[in-house]
Amino acid sequence: MGEFSELLEQGTVFRNRDILSPHYVPNKLIFREAEVKRLMVALAPALKNSKPRNLFIYGQTGTGKTATVKQVIRKLAGEKQDGVKTVYMNCRIYDSRYKAVQKCISEHQPDFAKTGYSFAVLYEKLLDWIEESGGKQFVVALDEVDVVKDLDSLVYTLTRANDDLKKGNISMIGISNRVSFKQRLDVRSKSSLCEEEIVFQPYDATQLRGILLQRVPEAFKDGAVEESALNLAAAIAAKENGDARYALNLLFRAGELAEGRGMLKVADKEVEEARKMADEDKAFEVISTLPEHQQFVLYGLASLALDTKYRKLVEEGGDKLYFSSEVYERYCSLAKRGGQEPRTSRWFREYLHDLETLGLVATIESGKGVRGHATLVKLCYEALKVRKIIEKTLFEDKGAEK
Ligand SMILES: Nc1ncnc2c1ncn2[C@@H]1O[C@H](COP(=O)(O)OP(=O)(O)OP(=O)(O)O)[C@@H](O)[C@H]1O
Ligand SMILES: [Mg+2]
Repeated sequence: MGEFSELLEQGTVFRNRDILSPHYVPNKLIFREAEVKRLMVALAPALKNSKPRNLFIYGQTGTGKTATVKQVIRKLAGEKQDGVKTVYMNCRIYDSRYKAVQKCISEHQPDFAKTGYSFAVLYEKLLDWIEESGGKQFVVALDEVDVVKDLDSLVYTLTRANDDLKKGNISMIGISNRVSFKQRLDVRSKSSLCEEEIVFQPYDATQLRGILLQRVPEAFKDGAVEESALNLAAAIAAKENGDARYALNLLFRAGELAEGRGMLKVADKEVEEARKMADEDKAFEVISTLPEHQQFVLYGLASLALDTKYRKLVEEGGDKLYFSSEVYERYCSLAKRGGQEPRTSRWFREYLHDLETLGLVATIESGKGVRGHATLVKLCYEALKVRKIIEKTLFEDKGAEK
C-alpha cells in the first residue's frame, strides 16, 4: 500500500466521507417517491414528442428539490431518445438571460465558441438546433431561478421561443426556496413559469433519520455511529426546518470530530458539538450579511468588550453589561472611521432592537440603583469572533473595492 492510501485508510470511523458531501446524490431518494413520480408524469409527454407543461418547484432549503430534479432529469436523458434533450443549471452561476441561453447551447454543442455573440445570434442558434432533425423536446431546469437578474425576460424568451419554433419545443422547470420572489415577477412570466406547481414539504425527524441511516453503511465503518447519535442529529435537524442538508452536515462533522480524537464511535457528544459548530457558521452568515450600520453597532459593543482597560460596565452573574449610551458613542466613531455619517440615537435604538431580534445582543433596563434609568447591553456572541467577522466584511472588503 502506498503512503497516501495508507494515510487514507487510517480513519477510525469513516469508510467514505464523500457519501455525506452535499454534492453526492444517492441513487434512491427515500420519502420523495411521490414527487419523483409527479415530475416524471409531468415530463413524460416529451417522450411522445409533445410539450410538457412548465413546472415550478418550491420548498424550503434542504427538502431535496435539487436532488430530485437532477435525478429525474438523469432518468429522462437515460431514455436515450434523440428527440428529447435536457439541461440542468444552477442560476447562481448562470444568472442572466444571456448566460442561461448560452448554457442551453453549450451543453449540447461543446465546441460552440462561447463569447462575442449578440443575444439575437444565440437565440437563433438555439432555435436552429432544436429544429434540427425533426425537432426536439428541450427541457430546461433552472435551479435557484430567483437569482436570475432579468428573470422576466428569460421566462418570456423561453416561452416565446415556442411560437418561433417550427418543430420541437422548450419547456422549463423552475426551482426555488423563496416563494416571495414570485411577487416580483410580472403577471405574464409568473403564469408561464408556474403552469404547474410542486411543493416539497420539510422532512420530519423520522424521515431525516431514514435519510441519514441510508448513508451510514457506505459512509461509516460498521458500528461506528451510535444509534442515539443518529437519532439526535435527525431530531436537531427536524427542528431546523426539516433540512436534510443540515442533518447530513451534522453527521459529517460529528464523524470528523470523532476521527480527530481517534475514537471508534460517533456519540451524542460529537453531534452536540457539531451542532455548536454549525450554529457558529450560521452566526457568521448572519453577522456578515447585516446592514452596515448594524455591523457598526455590533462592532462597537464588541470593541468595548475587548477593551481590557474599559471599566464603565456592570458585571452581573458573569455577564458583562455595557451602557447603551457608551455603545452609541463607540458606534459613532466607528461609523465615521468607516466613512459613514453616524445615525441619530433613535436609529441606534432601532438597530439594537434588530440585533436583539436576531439573538446577537440582549438589552436590559437597569433599575433605579444604577445611575438612574439606563439601558444596558450585553453581547450574546464571542466578542473576538464578532470583531473578526466584521473586520473582514466591513473594512477589508471595502478596502478591496476601492
Ligand atoms: N429524500 C432524500 N433522500 C436522500 N438524500 C436526500 C433526500 N433529500 C435531500 N437529500 C440530501 O440532502 C441534501 C439537500 O438536498 P437538496 O440539495 O436537494 O435540497 P434543496 O431542496 O435543493 O435545498 P436548497 O433550497 O437549499 O437548494 C443533499 O445532500 C441531498 O442529497
Ligand atoms: Mg437546491
